[in-house]
Amino acid sequence: MPIFFQQQINENTRLGVWKIEETEEFFKTTVPLHRDVTHPHKRLQHLAGRFLLQYLFPDFPNKLVKIADTRKPYLPDAQYHFSISHCGDYAAAIVSRDKRVGIDVEIPVEKIEKIKYKFLSADELAKFSLITDFKKPGVTDNIIMYTLLWSSKEAIFKWYGNGGVDFRKDILLLKQNAKNNAIDCFFTKSKSELIIHYRQFEGLMLAWVFN
Ligand SMILES: CC(C)(COP(=O)(O)OP(=O)(O)OC[C@H]1O[C@@H](n2cnc3c(N)ncnc32)[C@H](O)[C@@H]1OP(=O)(O)O)[C@@H](O)C(=O)NCCC(=O)NCCS
Repeated sequence: MPIFFQQQINENTRLGVWKIEETEEFFKTTVPLHRDVTHPHKRLQHLAGRFLLQYLFPDFPNKLVKIADTRKPYLPDAQYHFSISHCGDYAAAIVSRDKRVGIDVEIPVEKIEKIKYKFLSADELAKFSLITDFKKPGVTDNIIMYTLLWSSKEAIFKWYGNGGVDFRKDILLLKQNAKNNAIDCFFTKSKSELIIHYRQFEGLMLAWVFN
């Protein structure tokens, strides 16, 4: 079952997560390789991400994708905005006709706890330390929570796309709305109030933003 999760966010925006069970040849029949990727599994992830764009919107012009200096992929005529992420055997993508988008997928691992001070402010650490409403797929609540907060900031970083973002100072996570699986955020670089949406699966965290 390659399509693992799919959501029609609104009439112009779709997202999907692909569980990679295919070989390179499967993806290469429809997807051009956009950059040199030497590591075979990374190449497979790269191809799966590009394949997913076309899966979500069949007229997505994969051949026209360019790579910016920041390494963000984009379409010069902005026919679609899109964002891609991969982790392990998963590739995730969000594509929109009219909104800028960012997505991140992560497999929660213990290492995240060690680097929490690098991407979270003291205020965020205090504010989010009491979240306890996660399902527990074999890792502690804290690991899941820090993965969610990291993933949220990565999604904002990709939504912005211009690089030069200080995760602690520029991306301010304000409040979790657990009922809606959302986190309110203020992004200082563009002075934008943004809502990060997330979804937790067994062993996988997905966060995305569109605005
Ligand atoms: C560029 C970055 C977002 C990639 O993330 P990653 O976890 O390595 O990999 P992911 O699989 O989630 O995302 C990779 C995809 O992001 C996209 N991407 C790469 N650079 C991007 C950018 N500047 N903006 C938006 N999207 C970008 C690409 O589509 C890439 O996949 P592809 O090359 O196969 O098409 C990440 O490495 C990064 O630089 N993050 C910021 C880190 C940072 O500043 N931290 C400071 C606080 S500790």
